[in-house]
Amino acid sequence: MRVVVTSDVDGYAADLLVGKWDSIRVLGLATGSTPVNVYGRLIQRYYDGTISFRTKRTFNLDEYLGLAPNHPQSYRATMVRDLMQYVDLPDERFHVPPGISDDYAAACTAYEDDIRAAGGVDLWVLGVGVDGHIAFNEVGSARDSRTRVVDLAESTVAANVSYFDDSDDMPTQAVTAGVATIMDAREVLLLAKGAAKADAIARAVCGDESADTPASWLQSHGNCTFLLDSAAAAGIVNSAGADATRAPGAGGREHSIEFLD
Ligand code: GLP
Repeated sequence: MRVVVTSDVDGYAADLLVGKWDSIRVLGLATGSTPVNVYGRLIQRYYDGTISFRTKRTFNLDEYLGLAPNHPQSYRATMVRDLMQYVDLPDERFHVPPGISDDYAAACTAYEDDIRAAGGVDLWVLGVGVDGHIAFNEVGSARDSRTRVVDLAESTVAANVSYFDDSDDMPTQAVTAGVATIMDAREVLLLAKGAAKADAIARAVCGDESADTPASWLQSHGNCTFLLDSAAAAGIVNSAGADATRAPGAGGREHSIEFLD
């Protein structure tokens, strides 16, 4: 795992994506507040003619169970607001797990099939929850989990309820890509900002790989970068000690840490 610490997470992430743009046919995307400014940078690059989404395909990580695609707080509607309404991605190439279905098990299998039929995800952009969850893979999510319906943790509901005008409207379940679905991506770029994420990041990078911190499963992904601001990286830097260029990981593994400023 590569750990990059920078005061400009948004700019670094956007430059990394644009630099690889031609080799990214299938892009995995995340909701949450963390990647929003990265999407803003991609919109700028689209407007200045540097990139196009016309031939891309995107898969989102998750969706609230029970929310129709046009519900303003659905993750589909959020992605449209934050990115898709501005760029030239054809609608049929924009995939989000189904929030409403007559048969969720079949719909989840179909989502996995769609990713596979597209050739797999070239790069998946992720955020992380304060407890170390990725997508809606809450604490306890197994390494081999696939797209499925999950119950949301109380902390996840608490972190997201403010997006809903009426707190009773906040769903308590979701459909999420699994840990294994994410691990299948050829590259993973996890973004984290702020002190609230520091404990989760330290456990994910320096702790054991375990369902207690779902982001820790990424330690054994062969091509994963954690892109952090200094507040989110604080716990790793403490674990790494004075010469903080290598962070200790599980099983004697070490992760490189690069400080860009
Ligand atoms: C939700 C999403 C995750 C996201 C997390 C953190 O739980 N399902 O994909 O990473 O929130 O969100 P934020 O970036 O707003 O801190």
